[in-house]
Order: sequence, then structure tokens, then C-alpha cells
Amino acid sequence: MRARLPLIAANWKMHKTAGEAHAFCDVALPRLLALTDDVEVALCPPFTALHAVAERVRATPVRLGAQDLHWERAGAFTGEVSGPMLVAAGCTYVIVGHSERRELFAETDDRVRRKVRAAFDAGLVPILCVGETLRERQDRLTEERIAAQLAEGTASITSEEAARLVIAYEPVWAIGTGRAATPEDARRVIGWIRDVMRQRFGPSADRMRIQYGGSVNPDNAAGFLQHPEIDGSLVGGASLDPEAFVRIVEAALPARV
Ligand code: PGA
Repeated sequence: MRARLPLIAANWKMHKTAGEAHAFCDVALPRLLALTDDVEVALCPPFTALHAVAERVRATPVRLGAQDLHWERAGAFTGEVSGPMLVAAGCTYVIVGHSERRELFAETDDRVRRKVRAAFDAGLVPILCVGETLRERQDRLTEERIAAQLAEGTASITSEEAARLVIAYEPVWAIGTGRAATPEDARRVIGWIRDVMRQRFGPSADRMRIQYGGSVNPDNAAGFLQHPEIDGSLVGGASLDPEAFVRIVEAALPARV
């Protein structure tokens, strides 16, 4: 029996036009809506396809998420999008601190902290990404690195917000590489993350969802998602194909005996 509702979130990254998002929904939505209440699903398209997906998921249990936000509500920030804008576009979730943003767009732990705060202030639920690089793992710095990301990322939130927060544990070496962590490794780090969060937030940490992400596909998904301690997944590459994504969501359903 699971203590928390697993969340399977599709991170489309810089893929899919509005038209392609509609085509995905044509195939995936009828099947996702037929699934039980035992799993929550979110689609996180690029900003330009938010409206298209919002139209399709409105009045359904499927949730909309964005891939990033700015920490201010409005202002002279060319190219940026704020939390209130995402709420108006229909978003429930927003991914914060993805490793691609940390590595390729100079996202610092301090910016991640401000974005997590901004997400809650706007009424969004942040999906806070944490994870170690291959180098950090080889140097046995996994816990140290993730502890720093957690400390900074959650520095400005309350225990009540912590209960709603989603954390995605995504080892950087497993993202987009086809080289997933083992379920046992993922479970171990996720259990450790929950202990760290318990020390900081007390019992609220038991309501927080902690996902695994990194090269999850229809063939390996059940190995992660059948663990009651792994509260779903943030899925990149395999979420672009509606058939593959539906199979991953199915893998999170309770096993039939
Ligand atoms: P991947 O990406 O599933 O393609 O490895 C996961 C992510 O970046 O969230």
C-alpha cells in the first residue's frame, strides 16, 4: 500500500509544436483518462504548447506543468515567463532546477531557491530537480551535492509547502543517456533524501513526493514505479511517444494479483 499518490510527469523539453502536442493528446489522452485514480499524470510541454495542452486537459484529472519560471511576478525580463502567467495558462506544476538548466543556462542553487519560492507564491507546485554528476558520483560526493541542492532549494519554504513539494531525484549521468540508475540505487538515494527532509520539515516530509528520473522507459519503468518509496517519475525522451508514455503510466498502477 502506497503512502502517497505517484506522479508521472512528461518533460517534453524543447520538443513538440502546438500541433504536435495536439497529435500526442489525440492518442494518449483517451488512454490516460481510462486509467484509475491510483496515479497522477502531468504533461510539461514547452511554453508555446501550454495553451494547446491546457485546452485538451481542462476538466480532466491530467495536469499541466511548465518547464521553468522566473522568480519575479512581472518586469523587464526579456524572454522570461512568470508564475502568475503559468497559472493563468492553466498550469498546476512547474519544473525547477532541471540539470539541463543548471548546466547549460547557469542556474545556481540560489536562483533555484527563488524559483521554488516564486512557484508557491503563485499557487504552483514546484517539481524540484536534484542529482549528482558522474564526476560527483565517482568522487563519492553524491550525498554532499544533493544535500546542498536540497538545503538551498527548500530554504524559503514552510513545512506546509514542503508537504506539497515534489522532488525529482535525477542523477545527471542517467538523463538522456539510456543508462538509468538501478531501482535499488534510486530507492536508496530517495530514502536518504526523505530522511534529510524529515530532519528539516518533520512529518511533512512523509507527504512530499520524491520521484526518480533519468532514462525511464516502458521496459524499465515498473522496476522503479512498483517501489512504494519511489513516488513516480519525471520522464524525458520516452514521454514524447504517446504509446511509450502510456505504458510508463500503466507501470505505476498497483500490480494486479
Ligand atoms: P530522460 O530525461 O528520461 O530523457 O533521461 C529525464 C529528464 O530530464 O527529466
